[in-house]
Amino acid sequence: MFKIILPALFTVSLCFGAEPMPMQKMDVVQDGDTRKSLGIKGTMKGAHQLSNMRAHMTALADIVKYMNSDQYDEASKVASEKLGLTVSMNSMCGNFGSKSFETMGVAFHKSADILAQTLKTKDHAKSMIALEKVMNGCVLCHSTFKQ
Ligand code: HEC
Repeated sequence: MFKIILPALFTVSLCFGAEPMPMQKMDVVQDGDTRKSLGIKGTMKGAHQLSNMRAHMTALADIVKYMNSDQYDEASKVASEKLGLTVSMNSMCGNFGSKSFETMGVAFHKSADILAQTLKTKDHAKSMIALEKVMNGCVLCHSTFKQ
């Protein structure tokens, strides 16, 4: 009897024993903060950057609000003026001492200019795809950099 049960228990415990390993590895990746620091936390520059970020959030909400009420020209104006690659946005992105941050920021602002152009066509489906690309730009940078 034991000759059957013991190996069976051993096999079962091996299976369950093997299970938590990948889970633990995932937890480590989720909890460990691998983002690169810009070294601006708690500085005036940092405060300015965060306020700029909150304005980005407002712009996204306004774009969706205008799209939902068929005001595509207004949505386009917000995308271009608040998120597009204006002279000031361009110089701000290059002001953090990181070339890859700048590249990511500029690509993000360019995607907002494409969104602004797409919104002008009043094509909801195409505008949603362009908006998705813009939002992916927010996500990519946030997962790469911190203050
Ligand atoms: C090129 C990089 C980059 C892009 C693109 C970017 N962000 Fe950020 N954002 C940051 C960094 C860095 C922080 C600081 C995060 C930290 O230190 O934890 C931040 C913080 C924020 C915060 C927190 C503000 C606060 O007061 O604490 C919000 C909200 C935010 N971003 C919204 C957005 C939105 C919405 C977009 C896209 C429309 C966006 N960001 C695009 C880099 C970026």
